Amino acid sequence: MKATAEAPANIAFIKYWGNADANLRLPHHNTISMNLSGAKTTTTVEFVSSLDADEVFLGGSKVDGTGAERVSKVLDHIRKISGNKQRARVTTHNSFPTAAGIASSASGFAALAVAAASAAGLSLTEQELSTVARLGSGSATRSIPDGFVEWHAGSSHETSFAESLYAPEYWDIVDIITVVDADQKKVSSTLGHSLADTSLLYPARLASMKEKVESVKRALAEKDFPRFGELIEEESLNLHAIMMTSRPSVLYWSPATVRVLQALREWRQEGLLAYSTMDAGANVHVITRGEDETAVTQRLQALKGVEKTILGKPAAGAHLVK
Ligand code: PMV
Repeated sequence: MKATAEAPANIAFIKYWGNADANLRLPHHNTISMNLSGAKTTTTVEFVSSLDADEVFLGGSKVDGTGAERVSKVLDHIRKISGNKQRARVTTHNSFPTAAGIASSASGFAALAVAAASAAGLSLTEQELSTVARLGSGSATRSIPDGFVEWHAGSSHETSFAESLYAPEYWDIVDIITVVDADQKKVSSTLGHSLADTSLLYPARLASMKEKVESVKRALAEKDFPRFGELIEEESLNLHAIMMTSRPSVLYWSPATVRVLQALREWRQEGLLAYSTMDAGANVHVITRGEDETAVTQRLQALKGVEKTILGKPAAGAHLVK
């Protein structure tokens, strides 16, 4: 009744923002991502007959409130399909700062889904595991399969799942996670999703998504890095335009965020190709080719306000470790 799993964070190239069904976390459109080495969660789930409530510990501290409720929602689903009624002790550890726009919920709920299913004696398919992870966090759906991943929006619990487009070795690109603020983010992505459709720009975003997904998939298929970079940077800026123009407005950027974004434009003028993509936080994910990783990392670390960089290479998805 005990299992341990490990799952990577992922960076979305096409972002999920806003729900068609908030309870099931069904998105409005497909999204695309890459799993990241160097930013992972390790989670142990043990079902214990003497417990009368689930217990969650993150990095040694007890988690209460909505964080614990979201964990219980995933465990409730596992209990429902396995018939096991026991409560669980969940201990989890991140290799990177929690809730700082580095998708800790993605790796966290993906590791939870895999560990909980195994601890309950279930053997679920990759597709089923990705639907279970989604109940805790939409982006966690994408941390189950390997490498470069597409999440199919679907229209029900069973049809909203992710699958691998390419193995991690397919393309030598890297994500240099540029940490400018390692604190907890001020506005959770759960709240952000619920505000998305208050932005007057949101209908235009939704109308463009199908074509954007196709364009990014084409650039991936052709390994056309400049095209890919332009597309993903534009997509991330579009997402942040929605955030900024929501009511109330959500502004995740700090001065150092803008410094990084401007530096990337200057470096591109010089021929050093690196592009930004950002989630719900101030940190910038800098995407570049493997051959330029050292040069870009050195330049990033020299910028004022950059606290550190974390290297994310394309990585395998969630898996059991014990
Ligand atoms: O999985 P959530 O609810 O934390 O939402 C993730 C939202 C973004 O990170 C901003 C975009 C994405 O697709 O990962």
